[in-house]
Amino acid sequence: MFPDDRSRSATLFERARAVMPGANTRHMVTFAPYVIYAREGRGCRVTDVDGNSYLDWVNNFSANIHGYGFEPVVEALKRQAERMTCCILPEEKEIELAEIIVDRWRGVEQVRFANSGTEAAMVALKAARAITGRSKIAKTEGGYHGQYDLVEASFLPNERNWGPKERPAAPPLSHGTPQSLLDQAVIIPFNNIEVSLARLEEEKDALAAVIIDPIPARLGFVEADQSWLKALREFCTRSGVPLIFDEVFCGRASFHGAQGRLGVIPDATVLGKIIGGGMPIGAVGGLRSFMAIFDNLAGPLKVSHSGTFTANPMSMAAGVAAMRALTPETFARLEADGERLRAGITEVMADCGLDMRINGVASMSSLQFFQAPARDYREFHQRSGPNYLERMRGLHRLMLNAGILMATRGLMVGSTAMTAEDLDETINRARAAFGRFVECEAA
Ligand SMILES: Cc1ncc(COP(=O)(O)O)c(C=O)c1O
Repeated sequence: MFPDDRSRSATLFERARAVMPGANTRHMVTFAPYVIYAREGRGCRVTDVDGNSYLDWVNNFSANIHGYGFEPVVEALKRQAERMTCCILPEEKEIELAEIIVDRWRGVEQVRFANSGTEAAMVALKAARAITGRSKIAKTEGGYHGQYDLVEASFLPNERNWGPKERPAAPPLSHGTPQSLLDQAVIIPFNNIEVSLARLEEEKDALAAVIIDPIPARLGFVEADQSWLKALREFCTRSGVPLIFDEVFCGRASFHGAQGRLGVIPDATVLGKIIGGGMPIGAVGGLRSFMAIFDNLAGPLKVSHSGTFTANPMSMAAGVAAMRALTPETFARLEADGERLRAGITEVMADCGLDMRINGVASMSSLQFFQAPARDYREFHQRSGPNYLERMRGLHRLMLNAGILMATRGLMVGSTAMTAEDLDETINRARAAFGRFVECEAA
């Protein structure tokens, strides 16, 4: 039972606390009163250091799309480790992974690698500035593009600091972020054509890029409206402002990524997670017109992009093996599994009389404390209610005790390692957790 003061995880947590502030290096994964420590993963299951087993519905925030111990990836890593883990000379695998990506994402005619989604988004924005000679970046309210100061603007705004609806403010996430940097962020509301276009038009002479996540996790994986996407596309083309899709998470929406599903092609695309087969990775890709800025063979360097571990052969090898195993049929199965999960959990919620919803697209799902999908960040925030975090923490704990690992904010992301039986088991286990949740909320 979690929490248990005498568990090995609790002991490790205390030990970790002495040497790491917060006991952990990832704020996103920490939960109270202690974090459970993993011992090993197999297929779609993780066993913790106390021997408890969980069906893993986080898959390291999507990266482990094949679950644990996926043989093609394990074999590729073994072979690569024997040959070399990193080297000053590039390896052929980098070209192979680039070819796979270029083949699948229509808006990616060329690509360059990075070590994380954060880094890739940062590089994409630097490139956009170098191309346009302008400095401001437009992003959506509540949009996540990694953890550096400019894109952290308006990541987790609230009623007290988000400003007027027709002119959203750019509050910082990290204390001490220079105001001069925040002044470079233009915040637009998701799905709101009128306000987005008004803000973009107003700032267009200073704008280097518009970056959006078209199926954001934080909004419960709602797909952006076609009309809003087309309005952004049209504005960006007309104004010479690169449109960037952050598909670090939602790249798993289809064989051709989120853009393939939504039918709108950006100038640049930021990728990560699944393309690395469980190893650290990021990538910035785009149309040739965008990517040309990186070509130092064609003239003087306009934007610098390098890194000791960038395109390291281990990530490239794992990425190639993972991506080759992701065929159109695999994506169809992942999507069918996602729909089955949502149907099963919806039934459980209805049986428990809960005013909740499991929203989602393809293999990405998210639990929320209201019914109709949210249209934007403010709606999601306000309809989630003031006790959202506390309630979700309670549900997260009950899911853990029912043997299901989900993200602390209710995200559930599938893997190819899940079988039909695993799905049924998930729904049965969730039934127990949701039943307890009703009892706890009533108490
Ligand atoms: C949409 C989006 N962008 C960027 C990132 C940052 O990627 P990374 O964690 O690899 O730095 C994430 C990570 O969750 C993400 O979901």
